[in-house]
Amino acid sequence: MRSEKEMEYLLKAIDAFRRRMIVVSPQFEILAANCHLEGVENSDLLGKLCHRVFYDREEPCENCAVEEVIQHGRPALRPKPVDGSDLEKMPCFYAYPIHAGEEVEAFVSMDFDLPTRGGIEAKMQSTNVLLRNLILSAIDGVIAADMRGKILIFNVMAAEIFGYTVEEALNSLNIKDIYPDNTAHDIMQKLRSDDCGGRGKLRSYKVDVLGKNGKPIPINLNAAIVYEGEREVATIGFFHDMREILQMKEKLEKTRVQLLQAEKMASLGKLAAGVAHQLNNPLGGITLFTKLVMEDYDLEEGAQEDLNRVLRDAKRCKDTVKELLEFTRQTRHLMQPHDINRAITRTLFLLENQTLFQNIQIEKKLADDLPRVQGDIQQLYHMLMNIILNAAQAMEGNGKLKIETGPVPGLDRVLITISDTGPGIPADILPHIFDPFYTTKEEGKGTGLGLSLVYGIVENHNGWIKAKNRKGRGAAFIIELPIAQGIDGENESG
Ligand SMILES: Nc1ncnc2c1ncn2[C@@H]1O[C@H](COP(=O)(O)OP(=O)(O)OP(=O)(O)O)[C@@H](O)[C@H]1O
Ligand SMILES: [Mg+2]
Repeated sequence: MRSEKEMEYLLKAIDAFRRRMIVVSPQFEILAANCHLEGVENSDLLGKLCHRVFYDREEPCENCAVEEVIQHGRPALRPKPVDGSDLEKMPCFYAYPIHAGEEVEAFVSMDFDLPTRGGIEAKMQSTNVLLRNLILSAIDGVIAADMRGKILIFNVMAAEIFGYTVEEALNSLNIKDIYPDNTAHDIMQKLRSDDCGGRGKLRSYKVDVLGKNGKPIPINLNAAIVYEGEREVATIGFFHDMREILQMKEKLEKTRVQLLQAEKMASLGKLAAGVAHQLNNPLGGITLFTKLVMEDYDLEEGAQEDLNRVLRDAKRCKDTVKELLEFTRQTRHLMQPHDINRAITRTLFLLENQTLFQNIQIEKKLADDLPRVQGDIQQLYHMLMNIILNAAQAMEGNGKLKIETGPVPGLDRVLITISDTGPGIPADILPHIFDPFYTTKEEGKGTGLGLSLVYGIVENHNGWIKAKNRKGRGAAFIIELPIAQGIDGENESG
C-alpha cells in the first residue's frame, strides 16, 4: 500500500508533467486527467469522450493509440493527426493499458514529441557542416580520398603543405601522387594490418610526402580507413608538417655540438697552456746557459756551431710555446678585423713540424693586400686547423696541400681554398661530412665533430663553406668570409 504522502507526490508528479496525460475507459470516456490543460477544470473533462473533447469528433480518431492497445493488448505509439512530417519534432500519442487483475480496466494516453526523420536529417546536416568546418580549418593537413585515390577532402592546411590549390587537388590529384614510389601501397598495407594502431588505423607514422614542386616534406601521419559496414569506402589522413620541428631539432643539435666542442677545446686549451707554461722556464734556462757557455769558454768551431744549433732550436721551441699559448688563449668570443693570411701562416707554423706533415709539401698562394675579415681569431684558428688536419689525414701524410686566398671580385668577401691530393670525398659521403658525429675514421680515431664545428664557425661569421672533389685527385674546401667593414684594423690581433 502506498502512503498518503507517496500518493500525494505521485499526483503532483503527474500534474507537473508538461504534456497531456489522461486515463480513459475502453469506451474512450475520460476517467482522469492531469492538470496540463490551461483554463480547463479537470472536473469538466471527466466522463466525456476524449475524441469529442479534444478533436470535436463523434468517432475515435483514425490513428488512435488507445484503439491499438485495445486491439493488440500492448503499448502503442501513434503519430498525432497533424501534418508534422517536415517539422523538427513529430507529435505522438503513447498509450498503454492499466490492468485490474486479468482484465484491462482502463488506458493511459499521453502525448509527447518524437524527433522526426526531417528533424534528424536537419540535425545531421548541421553536424556535417560543423565537421566540415572543423576539417577545413584544422591546423593539420586533412586529405580524404576514395578507394581509387580520388581526392574527396583537401583542406586549406593541406594546400599550404603540399603547394596545390584546393581546386587542383579536388579535380586532378590522385592520393598516390603525394607519395614517392611505393609508399601509398605500403601505407595501405599498414592500414589494413593490425600492427600500427589497430585494423584500419595508422598512428604517428613518419613519412616523406611530395609537394607539388617534387620536394620531399617530412610528415607525421595519422590515417584511417573509413568503412561502411565491412566495405572500405575511403581513407582519411591527418598530415602534420614536421619541417619546423626538425629544423629546430637540427639547430639544437648544432648548438649542442658547438658546446661540446667548445668544452673539448677549453680543456685542451687549459692543458696546452699549462704545458707551455712549464716549458717556458726550462727553455729560458737552456738559452741562458748555452749563451753563458759560449761566452765563457773558448770553444772549437764545431762546438760553437752545435751550440748555435741548440740556441736556434730553443728559440723555435719558445716560438712554438708562444704560438700554442696564443692559439689556446681562453678568450670570450671577440669579433675583430683579422688578417686571414696571418692566421693561416700561424696555423701552419704549429702543424708543419708534426710527423704527419713531414712528407707533405705545402704550397701557399696568399693574396697580397687581402682585406681583413671580421672574426673571432680563436674560432678562425680552429676552422683552419680542422680543415688542414683533415687534408693531411686524408693524404696519410704524403702529398701536396695547397692554401690559396683572394678577394671575391665585386663583393666584400674573401675566399679561402684549401685543397689536397688525397683520395677525395666519395659522392655518397659528401652530403654528410658537415653532420655532427659523421666520420669515416676507425673508432677512436675521429669524433666526426671537426667539420660540424667548422660549419658552425663559418655560419657564425656569416660566411659559407663548400666541399668538392678536385678534377684530378683530392678534395677542396672553399670558404667565403665577409670582410671587416669600416674599421681599419687598429685593434687587430691576428
Ligand atoms: N680532405 C678530405 N679528404 C677526404 N675526406 C675528407 C676530407 N675532409 C673530411 N673528409 C671526410 O669527412 C669526414 C668528417 O670529417 P670531420 O672532420 O667532421 O670528422 P673526422 O675528421 O672524421 O673526425 P675528427 O675531426 O673529430 O677527428 C671524415 O671522416 C672524412 O671521411
Ligand atoms: Mg676532422
